[in-house]
Amino acid sequence: MDIDRYLRKGIKGLKPYIPGKSEEEIRETYHPPEVVKLASNENPSSPPGAVIEAIQQEAIHVNRYPDGKCRNLAPKLASFLGCNPDELIFGNGAEELILMVCQAFLNEGETCVIVSNTFDAYETAVRIMGGVPVFSPLDSQYRINLDDVAGRITPDTKLIFLPNPNNPTGTIFTRSEFEKFLRHLPEKAFLVLDEAYHEYVNDPDYPDSIEYIKKGVPLLVLRTFSKAYGLAGLRIGYAVSHPSVIELLHHVRLPFNVNRLAEAAASAALDQQVWVQKRITEINEEKAFIYKALRGMKLFFIPSHTNFIFINVQCDAEHLFRNLLHQGIIVRQGSIWGFKTFIRLTVGNHRENERFLTALKKMISS
Ligand SMILES: Cc1ncc(COP(=O)(O)O)c(C=O)c1O
Repeated sequence: MDIDRYLRKGIKGLKPYIPGKSEEEIRETYHPPEVVKLASNENPSSPPGAVIEAIQQEAIHVNRYPDGKCRNLAPKLASFLGCNPDELIFGNGAEELILMVCQAFLNEGETCVIVSNTFDAYETAVRIMGGVPVFSPLDSQYRINLDDVAGRITPDTKLIFLPNPNNPTGTIFTRSEFEKFLRHLPEKAFLVLDEAYHEYVNDPDYPDSIEYIKKGVPLLVLRTFSKAYGLAGLRIGYAVSHPSVIELLHHVRLPFNVNRLAEAAASAALDQQVWVQKRITEINEEKAFIYKALRGMKLFFIPSHTNFIFINVQCDAEHLFRNLLHQGIIVRQGSIWGFKTFIRLTVGNHRENERFLTALKKMISS
């Protein structure tokens, strides 16, 4: 069958998303004694007891459809963030919201400025809608170059996706860089700031994005419960923006996009700020431990504002990646983002990080 003639324009060239390998896949393929997954920037800790309990209590109601507007969670999250419930919308992960933004804003042929070496969901969503991605390369420090991004905005530009911090490099842009960029933003272009990792950032120069929404900047901020809150498997993320933008996104939202267990878990997780901060402290301690070991091996890495580290292993990273898989250690190979000698390591718990470092040291020195 010639399936191509049925396809919408833009779909044919789409590459399917390549997720980090699953533990099951590695167990089946290589039969290692133990699998360590350091590939998808998840939280290495299971959620706290109160969150598990909330999921269990909600389980009895799963015969009923969920509330697509998450009316229990929205006011609670709004007061936590200092915004109004009508400035929030929830998605089946932040990923779904990326697609919803493109569905709502992008006409065929309009352009969207995206960073070259970044999370690939932006490009996929733009292409699905028949939009044209325009790529802005990172600078020599592996940082997003906001001057370059601004230079690529044309009258055809409808959307701009900026991850802050960026994945896979873990870098941020600062408040002053961002404010300079905003001065170049034409009225017609709508800006999406993806802050999936913002809880990990501890830099006084990191911009407070929600303040800019209050000032009327045409901006939407994406966040998620997948990372610092440890709920990746339940799929819940959210967007903050002007009520008129949120209202518009509800038009393209599928009626029951966020499930009941996810809403209940996210609501309970918001009450667990002590737990969240403890996990972030652990990640920071582990990052310091990994940095020290990498310096000892004389390997270059990009200091990270997130729970992952982009490491230059100074050899064919694809080969190293496969070798690690044989030992049951899953990371991501940098070639996915065009960096052939890099790997992206998600910071795990101490034992997992030690296992990775021991294996890496052996390979580097052999
Ligand atoms: C930059 C960035 N944005 C969004 C996401 C997706 O988050 P979610 O799990 O909420 O879909 C990820 C996940 O890895 C990410 O790295």
